[in-house]
Amino acid sequence: MDLETNPTSQPDSESENDDALTYLRGAREQRAVRAARDQAHRPRLTRIADRERQRFRAAAEFNLVPSGFQPTFRGKQFEENWLLESLGGFYDDSLISDILSQVKGGKEANVYCCLAHPSLGPRWVAGKVFRPRMFRNLKNDAAYRTGGELRGADGKALRKKREQRAVADRTTVGLRMLHQSWLANEAGALGRLQQAGALTPRLYGVNANALLMDFHGEPGDPAPTLNHITLGKAEARRLYDTVLEQIRIMLRCEIIHGDLSAFNILYYRGEIRIIDFPQSMNPWRNPRAFTFFRRDVTRVLEYFERYADMPEPGWLARALWREAYGEDAPETLGGERPA
Ligand SMILES: Nc1ncnc2c1ncn2[C@@H]1O[C@H](COP(=O)(O)OP(=O)(O)O)[C@@H](O)[C@H]1O
Ligand SMILES: [Mg+2]
Repeated sequence: MDLETNPTSQPDSESENDDALTYLRGAREQRAVRAARDQAHRPRLTRIADRERQRFRAAAEFNLVPSGFQPTFRGKQFEENWLLESLGGFYDDSLISDILSQVKGGKEANVYCCLAHPSLGPRWVAGKVFRPRMFRNLKNDAAYRTGGELRGADGKALRKKREQRAVADRTTVGLRMLHQSWLANEAGALGRLQQAGALTPRLYGVNANALLMDFHGEPGDPAPTLNHITLGKAEARRLYDTVLEQIRIMLRCEIIHGDLSAFNILYYRGEIRIIDFPQSMNPWRNPRAFTFFRRDVTRVLEYFERYADMPEPGWLARALWREAYGEDAPETLGGERPA
């Protein structure tokens, strides 16, 4: 065991001299060793952001900001650099002209309203920036990921044992792969659903930390999620049919959302958009897919039952599955309910 990098370790028989030295070291020196070790173990992206901040400050003093990108919305210290790093590439690629405001900071991502580049088409686009913090939040990812769903930055499945182990062991490399896997998974799902004509935001760009997609709403008036809306009875009926149709499209595209609920359905002037696909999964590759699907259906029905009587969720989930795939849902493979 290397005592330089692990000053708190207990002595072992082979290196008693070194161990004695370690014990004789003053507390101050030990603290310095520990601080250096902690520094080396800080998440890589945090260190990159620190470096970027220094570089950006130095450049700004001489008015030499590299890409000329000076967004209206800058955020605070850390966020500013994170933003420049994550959305700056979309500016360089002429996809956006400005960052106007932060829409919302969610569990795993911050979403920003951006002014689209005039050549892009829409006036505004949403930049979804995945947070480095999400590295530590996704305790439950193993359940979603069963069945080789991990994807690299190129969108291809990670099949090598070494890569899968790095992720399982949460090494720095593994965490980066996991981060990219979630991003690639969301991008892939949005792309496929867009082709199938689903009511999902159109995807315009993706990089290592962010996605760029249609913005639902307007700057200063972003679309609320369905859970914040009270509907009239007729409108609720119409939306229920629309959401069910979206679930059918997702099944046909072999996509189980995995976190579908009124919290991930945007509503603006009568138009809905289904969002938030990083955890989505393939119904055949994940043995618990039907369990997740039944939970999705249950949550949707929970929202609409305030407006009308709803079918039993398990029955509806099984019926939709059978309709899409011509066979019964593999319930026996479902295992326990997801948390
Ligand atoms: N395309 C979009 N247009 C407008 N607002 C969006 C869009 N995508 C996300 N948002 C807003 O950002 C919030 C978080 O986005 P979401 O994809 O659900 O990530 P998460 O919930 O994992 O943080 C949403 O609840 C919504 O308020
Ligand atoms: Mg969400």
